[in-house]
Amino acid sequence: MTTLTIAPLAPLLDRLFAEADASEVEVEAAAAALSTEERARLMQSKTGYRDLYGRLKDAPLAVSRETAALLYMLARSSRARTIVEFGTSFGISTLHLAAALRDNGGGHLITSEFEPSKVAKARDHLTAGGLIDLIEIREGDALQTLSVDLPDTIDLVLLDGAKSLYPEILNLVESRLRPGAIVVADNADFSPDYLARVRSPANGYMSTPFAEDVEISMRMG
Ligand SMILES: C[S@@+](CC[C@H](N)C(=O)[O-])C[C@H]1O[C@@H](n2cnc3c(N)ncnc32)[C@H](O)[C@@H]1O
Repeated sequence: MTTLTIAPLAPLLDRLFAEADASEVEVEAAAAALSTEERARLMQSKTGYRDLYGRLKDAPLAVSRETAALLYMLARSSRARTIVEFGTSFGISTLHLAAALRDNGGGHLITSEFEPSKVAKARDHLTAGGLIDLIEIREGDALQTLSVDLPDTIDLVLLDGAKSLYPEILNLVESRLRPGAIVVADNADFSPDYLARVRSPANGYMSTPFAEDVEISMRMG
């Protein structure tokens, strides 16, 4: 038994993933209305991300069930105690990471989100899941909120906010990554600069794509 597979978290996640599946249809329809170029331009813009995510503020945009399970397993197997997340949304990935912290014996998860209604929803879900005591939700642009007061060492990072900012967010956390720290980046194919950086061994990472949409990188010692 793990925190993930028992109440209150298991039924909560079933409900949240079902809602995420239902809303994905609308998000995909909206995306399909854009040309490939326009979609790539929006996802890669370093200035338009606030507007883009503002338009998506009612959508969970959650990681897949498979990526969520992977996050839990990576946090457990690395015995993570300190986790930083870029992009909370409704808190589905946060719930998995926090469950791993609980099952690791405790810890601290800093997560960042700029949409106030999403912060409120995530807080409700983390409270309902019995995990809020492990979480610090930083409201505002992560470029600011993650630029101060980070733990001395970070065991695991999830990058899942605006894809264009992955290099900048990595800059904020990099000096605190412990040797062996894991960085998971969702949909990193929209951030070619980020991929080039973590895939170049000279930059101190070992990195591999995983499944269709995830890049997993490890900070070398
Ligand atoms: C893909 S969703 C995150 C999904 C979440 N990780 C999950 O799996 O449940 C991305 C979220 O990041 C937020 N976001 C994007 N850029 C941000 C930024 N610069 N600062 C804070 N939040 C940001 C968006 O509002 C959106 O809710």
